[in-house]
Amino acid sequence: MKRIVVLSGAGISAESGLKTFRDSDGLWENYRIEDVATPQAWKKDRRLVLQFYNERRKQVKAAKPNAAHLALVQLEEKFEVHIVTQNIDDLHERAGSKKVLHLHGEILKSRSTMDPHLVYTIEKHELNEGEKCELGSQLRPHIVWFGEMVPALEYAAYIVSRADILIVVGTSLAVYPAAGLVNYVSPEANKYVVNPDPVVGELAGFKFINAKAGIGIPELVQELIKS
Ligand code: OAD
Repeated sequence: MKRIVVLSGAGISAESGLKTFRDSDGLWENYRIEDVATPQAWKKDRRLVLQFYNERRKQVKAAKPNAAHLALVQLEEKFEVHIVTQNIDDLHERAGSKKVLHLHGEILKSRSTMDPHLVYTIEKHELNEGEKCELGSQLRPHIVWFGEMVPALEYAAYIVSRADILIVVGTSLAVYPAAGLVNYVSPEANKYVVNPDPVVGELAGFKFINAKAGIGIPELVQELIKS
C-alpha cells in the first residue's frame, strides 16, 4: 500500500470558520504572540493566556469538518494515510482520519505544569485558574508555545521521509521547525501544495494547486484514488 502524508495547517480549517494566523484579519493581527502563546506570557499573565485558548476551544467545538477534512478520509480506502497537522483543532479526527499527529498540541486537552506526561481531556469549554493536575500543579493548555520544543517532530520527520505522496495544505510554512518537515521527503515522492495563496517556504518539485482546500483537496483526492 502506498503511503500518503498530509501536512496540514490552519488554512484547511478556514472553511470550517476557524481563523488562520497570518492571513488578513488572522489571529496574529488581533493578538500579540508574545502575550498569549509563549512560556513568558504564561508566567506574566496566565489568565489572559487561558482566556485566549478558552475562546479558541469554544470556536473549535462549534466548528465542523469541511469538504477537505472529509475527502482526506476517503484516501484511506486505497492508501496508508498519515496526517501531520500544525492545527490544534480536532477536525481531522472528527472527519474520521485514523492517524493524526498534532505537532503543536491539542486545544481540547490540558496538561500538568509539573509533569508534561500528565495530559487530560477538557470536558467543558473552559480551563481556568485553580484547576490542577493530580500532583496539585496548575493545568495549562496542551499546546506547544513559541520557544518550546516540538516533541512530535522527530516522529513526524520519519513519517514524511517514508511518504510516496506528500500533500501540503493550508499552511504558510512560515513557522519552524514544522515548515522544515518538507525537506525530509524523498526526491522520488509526488508532491502537491494546495493553497489559494503563495506560500512562504520554498517548494521545489511540488505541483501547486491554486485553490481553497474545500475545492482543491476533494479534486486531488479523486485524482489520486483513480490513479
Ligand atoms: P498561517 O496562518 O500561517 O497560514 C495559513 C495558510 O492557509 C496561508 O498560507 C493561507 O494562504 C492558507 N489558506 C487560507 N485559507 C485557505 C483555504 N480555504 N484553503 C487552503 N489554504 C488556505 O497558518 P499555519 O501555517 O498553520 O502555531 O501556521 C503555523 C503555526 O503558526 C500554527 O500552528 C500556530 C501559528 O502561530 C502555534 O501557535 C505554535
